[in-house]
Amino acid sequence: MNETLPMDEKYKVTLSGYLKEYKESLESTEEFWNKKSRIIDWFEPFTKVLDDKNKPFYKWFVNGKTNMSYNCLDRYMNTERRNKVAYIWVPEHGEEKVITYFGLYRRVNSFARALLDLGVKKGDGVTIYLPMILEAPIAMLACARIGAVFNVVFSGFGEEALAQRINDSNSKTVITADGGYRKGNVIQLKKIVDAAIELSNGVDNVIVVKNVHNKINMVQDRDYYYDEILQDGYVKPAELDSNDPLFILYTSGTTGKPKGIVHGNGGYPVWVANTMKWAFNPGEEDRWWCAADIGWITGHSYIVFAPLLLGVTSVMYEGAIDFPKPDRMWDIVERYGVNILYTSPTAIRLLMKYGEKYPLMHDLSSLKVLGTVGEPINPAAWHWFYEEIGKSRCPIIDTYWQTETGGFTIAPSRELGMPDLKPGSATFPMPGIDPVILNESGKEVPPGEKGYIVLKKPWPGLMLTVNGDPKRYVDTYFSKFKNMYLMGDYAIKDKEGYYWLLGRSDEVLKVSGHRIGTIEIEDGLVSMKEVAEAAVFGKPDTIKGDTIIAFITLKDGYDKNVDTIVSIKKRMRSELGPIMVPEEIHIVNTLPKTRSGKIMRRVIKAVYLNQVTGDISTLENEASVEEIKKAMDLIRKEED
Ligand code: WT7
Repeated sequence: MNETLPMDEKYKVTLSGYLKEYKESLESTEEFWNKKSRIIDWFEPFTKVLDDKNKPFYKWFVNGKTNMSYNCLDRYMNTERRNKVAYIWVPEHGEEKVITYFGLYRRVNSFARALLDLGVKKGDGVTIYLPMILEAPIAMLACARIGAVFNVVFSGFGEEALAQRINDSNSKTVITADGGYRKGNVIQLKKIVDAAIELSNGVDNVIVVKNVHNKINMVQDRDYYYDEILQDGYVKPAELDSNDPLFILYTSGTTGKPKGIVHGNGGYPVWVANTMKWAFNPGEEDRWWCAADIGWITGHSYIVFAPLLLGVTSVMYEGAIDFPKPDRMWDIVERYGVNILYTSPTAIRLLMKYGEKYPLMHDLSSLKVLGTVGEPINPAAWHWFYEEIGKSRCPIIDTYWQTETGGFTIAPSRELGMPDLKPGSATFPMPGIDPVILNESGKEVPPGEKGYIVLKKPWPGLMLTVNGDPKRYVDTYFSKFKNMYLMGDYAIKDKEGYYWLLGRSDEVLKVSGHRIGTIEIEDGLVSMKEVAEAAVFGKPDTIKGDTIIAFITLKDGYDKNVDTIVSIKKRMRSELGPIMVPEEIHIVNTLPKTRSGKIMRRVIKAVYLNQVTGDISTLENEASVEEIKKAMDLIRKEED
């Protein structure tokens, strides 16, 4: 933690530049954001920068009218950016496609027209369940253009999870594809959509992109092929209020029900565009590759919106980064001359395991800047990325943030003033972000001590609310420490003011950078006919961060055997999706519980990991711990 890597003189835009902006952002908040709001165009100016009368429901850029699709596309139509490449889309197999800003503008207009013709109106919910194809950003921008509130569901979620999101977002329209490619296999997306609709409150329209060209079931007067409903023409962008919702994105929390995080039309674009510029500072000619999936916030903010708001050229890749071969990522960097590569610690650790041989097969000299997101980056992965990939030339922009924050909260700023880097630290807060590390009783801890990371001031990227559940917004984020935003992570601030993120402080796992609530998986397990009780926790994994481990008990009459486990896993996969399937499921007779009947996950996890179990004085049934211990001893013996 003491290591400091001085950045070459060329990266040092002098830290004093950053400090000046940072200070201004906290001391003259409204003036600062008034200036920074000019990064987008406004149809009607706002009357107030920040209305904080109804805390913690903050309103930014009050009464301002704007449109995301206009700001990403229309405003370039009379400039040189009109014919600039917006996306170089790289398929898993086959030839790339290149689309310019003008091309994107045309296609977004056509699709917006088709949506209007189907009766989709401002404020309506639209669920987007697409693979990583160009129609995903097109669909998002078309919704944004007419003010429909879109909800992208990651294509690794199953029918149950999809149905829940269709219902909660009140979507009567679903946009999907006939299928998607994943490591050479076809995922039958349309089938999953059909099954989800059966479980939902019903939808009126399903729009299907022909992607893999397989035979699928089409329902009369409900299902339409995307290319058959497109129409040429221009759709005037809706004049939306800053605080009208732009999209809902679901994320896991500490209950079984995912939270629909709502982002708006004013604060969110201002935040994502400014943060991308501050942290990465892409040049007009730079090629940016954010190797995330559009189904997560990283993809929303930094594949779609921020790059387009800044007029950047992006590489967008459909497939897995190690398919068909472990050099795929480096091949794409070389082939398309990527200058800025933004990926995750999980990806780095995976590629690192394959060895240096693969990056050495490629010329990576186009790279200027590297970035990571999703979970804390361990120094070994940091060094590998810095030395083997960046050849010690490229700063690493470790960006700490989350779905709810809209964009980066803590990250080095290449534009305002690049700090010397410390491998594993996300360094300093973005302007507008005022973090503090608190202990359980709400007191600030001294430098070097671990505590809860909390943000004291609102910033424009903060979500508007939790969809349909404003109470949950207040309870989850602003209650533990009144009117301060609880990020849900532990952190340390060191003596030099650098922030070190230490992982979640709640029952949330990070599996390959994806946020997964243990309780969501437990709910999925106990909804199976055989399962009586379930306890889920994370096992540390050198590549994925966490892997999911489940302990279950069965109802009477079901067999404790491998077939049961295989069958449960299979149904978990189709109902909740592959990312929610536990790596291991162990069947036991009883689970350790407190006297009040709460399952003690902590104890199970400790026994499982062969650690001391800590205080188990509140435990009701010690025999259950013995049972797990014995089972684990057996497994370990077998492994030896
Ligand atoms: C959680 C948010 C942010 C987009 C991707 C994930 C963890 C994220 C970092 C980082 C340490 C990080 C936190 C956070 N996290 N980035 N650079 N260093 N931890 O978004 O699914 O909303 O997850 O990811 O635990 O709270 P998300």
